[in-house]
Amino acid sequence: MQDNLCLGIIGGAGHLGGAIAQGVLRNGAVLPENLWLSSRTLAASHGLAADPKVHRTTSNQTLIEHCDIVIVAVPPHLANSLAINASETGCLIISVMAGVTVTQLQQLSATERVVRAMSSPAAETGLAYSPWFSSEAITDTDRLKIRRVFEAIGQTDEVFDESHIDQFTALIGPVPGFVAYYADCMVNYAIDQGIDSNVAERAIRQLFKASGVMLADLDLSPRAHVDAMIDYDGTTAAGLKCMQASRLSASIDQGLTAAVEATRKMSESLGDSTS
Ligand SMILES: NC(=O)c1ccc[n+]([C@@H]2O[C@H](COP(=O)([O-])OP(=O)(O)OC[C@H]3O[C@@H](n4cnc5c(N)ncnc54)[C@H](OP(=O)(O)O)[C@@H]3O)[C@@H](O)[C@H]2O)c1
Repeated sequence: MQDNLCLGIIGGAGHLGGAIAQGVLRNGAVLPENLWLSSRTLAASHGLAADPKVHRTTSNQTLIEHCDIVIVAVPPHLANSLAINASETGCLIISVMAGVTVTQLQQLSATERVVRAMSSPAAETGLAYSPWFSSEAITDTDRLKIRRVFEAIGQTDEVFDESHIDQFTALIGPVPGFVAYYADCMVNYAIDQGIDSNVAERAIRQLFKASGVMLADLDLSPRAHVDAMIDYDGTTAAGLKCMQASRLSASIDQGLTAAVEATRKMSESLGDSTS
């Protein structure tokens, strides 16, 4: 990184906060002496984040007073316990909390300079996807810094409709999430056909690993992969045509919609207590 960006993570010993801490250290985007982590109980950090040069505090306010950018990664139902006032600090607040809106975040942090984002624990290995939506107070200089943080832990895009963060919370927040469900269906199918459960699981895990790499790295969209299989007209085409004619796609839509609605309910319940 060009300059010594000072990053704070509130909830930095948690599942997501800890993964982001590990990810930015691993990538070298943030030096250990420029990383601040807070939690209410000074819980121990693991791996690179256990470096004694990393600052730890139980005071979220102390953390934001030392940092340029602060990522808030506490459970949404605890967002009201943050006790921060960023109005005088010049620090930029990024939330990765499910369902907490830009307006709620501004109320909770007493600053207009907030970003609502989503990410995932895949941040630890640089494999997260982190979309973000900014408040109007965010400048182009801020945007560069936000990109630098999120590019250190994977891929990122700015989105310009806040409701899309609700959609992404359902789509990419949980890793392996819905993909694990599809894998489990395939494992169960193999077991039902009499294949040993350990063998079935090993085969499907490897299938998903290879599929993930191919989908991510090859210059073909998911649709193009499917079309290519159907054009080839082999055994997979027979299965794909059957699945396309079924209600599978509608069931996936319903599941994702239910997850988005759950995200919005979180926001509504928090709204009761921030107002
Ligand atoms: N885990 C995921 O896969 C995932 C994916 C996408 C988004 N998210 C979002 O990330 C956030 C954190 O989730 P998580 O799974 O990482 O939770 P977690 O493992 O329970 O970690 C939460 C952390 O927040 C700390 N904390 C709680 N209240 C605090 C406060 N007032 N001040 C400072 N620290 C506080 C906790 O430590 P103490 O108890 O010691 O304070 C803990 O270290 C949630 O909002 C969730 O929606 C998570």
